Amino acid sequence: MRLSIAACLLAAAAVQRAVARPTPEAILEALARRQVEAEDGEEIDEMEPDIPELEEADEINNRMIGDLRQGATTPVGESIRNILLRTESAEGSNSRYTPPGGVNSAKCKADTCCVWHYVSIAMTAKFTGPTGRCNDWARAAIRLGFHDAGTWSSNLSANGQDFGGADGSIILSGTEINRKENNGLQNIAKQMTKWQKQFGVSMADLIQYGANHAVVTCPLGPRIRSFVGRKDSKAAAPENLLPSATASADSLISLFEDKTISGHELAALLGAHSTSKQRFFDPSRANAPQDGTPGVWDIRYYNQTLESVGVPKRVLRIPSDVVLAQHPSMSNEWTKFRMPNGVGQKHWNEDYAEAYTRLSLLGVNNINSLTECTKTLPRPRPDFKGALTLFIDG
Ligand code: HEM
Repeated sequence: MRLSIAACLLAAAAVQRAVARPTPEAILEALARRQVEAEDGEEIDEMEPDIPELEEADEINNRMIGDLRQGATTPVGESIRNILLRTESAEGSNSRYTPPGGVNSAKCKADTCCVWHYVSIAMTAKFTGPTGRCNDWARAAIRLGFHDAGTWSSNLSANGQDFGGADGSIILSGTEINRKENNGLQNIAKQMTKWQKQFGVSMADLIQYGANHAVVTCPLGPRIRSFVGRKDSKAAAPENLLPSATASADSLISLFEDKTISGHELAALLGAHSTSKQRFFDPSRANAPQDGTPGVWDIRYYNQTLESVGVPKRVLRIPSDVVLAQHPSMSNEWTKFRMPNGVGQKHWNEDYAEAYTRLSLLGVNNINSLTECTKTLPRPRPDFKGALTLFIDG
């Protein structure tokens, strides 16, 4: 019986992923048609035959961010718009990059991505543990990326407070880092400050590049497409925009909706807890991970947040993860991420890469002028031999 359910789930997923993706224009047209129908008060017949692009569009978050709201005016702007609309992959190819010269050479300075090659070498050394897994520095870097970018609100921005977001202020303001919700991020903040001085790059970019670098440093992690050119800000972000571990699922979903992040995208982003450890939520259990393999970017977190049997004792489930996993707007996606034989892993990696691209560009109003430097990241390690070994972190 178990086998046949798994086989059905696998077949269903294969069908779903095999559906050809519509073009961005088709999606936007279909969404505009639906908008007009809704505004005209026209009832949408439940029995109406399926419209393929709308079926797909239901899964797509078409809310644009930053200057993309006025349109994609450059090839990089178009790529980012396509990533958000899911017509272009958010995962980079396996391309390699050879720097044109040493980090201080004129040739290197003439190529925007060159310095990131050298940043990447430093990050690989820092984020990799002795067994090839990702370590405490890496998990802190992933969380730092979220805590810098996540302090942006579409409501506040519409009311004249368009700041916060991925602007480096978590470090540059000098005050944000001391907020209670940022406990545990002080050491990685110091490390980022050293790297910023050493390499002379923007703090906002360094933080987001670091978050993506840490993910691909973890075995099985995706190589998320990475863009640079964000503007730094010293203005402390508005308060109360980061989530609480004891909030209700509905309030957390609204908090993320206000950041333009859908329930589907939140389900994917939470998978970052696959590599996390808590220290301050329950200090009596400091260093307790949120799944049995915090050094590997695997789907165990999605299983172990819900299961009660076979979960290692040291795993601490964060209450918000448990309530969100069961919420009707997330549970469907959560189940898909749990699919065996690499199906869930592939699906989650794709979805995380798209959702994190959105998160990493919140509050950025010059998206059209960014430069893509994905080629400087390490290549992913989907076949890491020790990925199945339990309890080894670093
Ligand atoms: C509902 C949303 C979320 C809540 C309530 C939440 C809550 C928490 C809590 C309570 C911790 C443990 C902190 C400690 O006690 O040391 C934590 C750790 C962490 N979170 Fe989240 N989180 C959320 C979303 C996210 C997202 C979207 C990301 C990244 C995309 C993320 C990445 C991490 C990472 C990597 C850690 C581990 C940090 C480390 O081990 O140093 N979290 N989170």
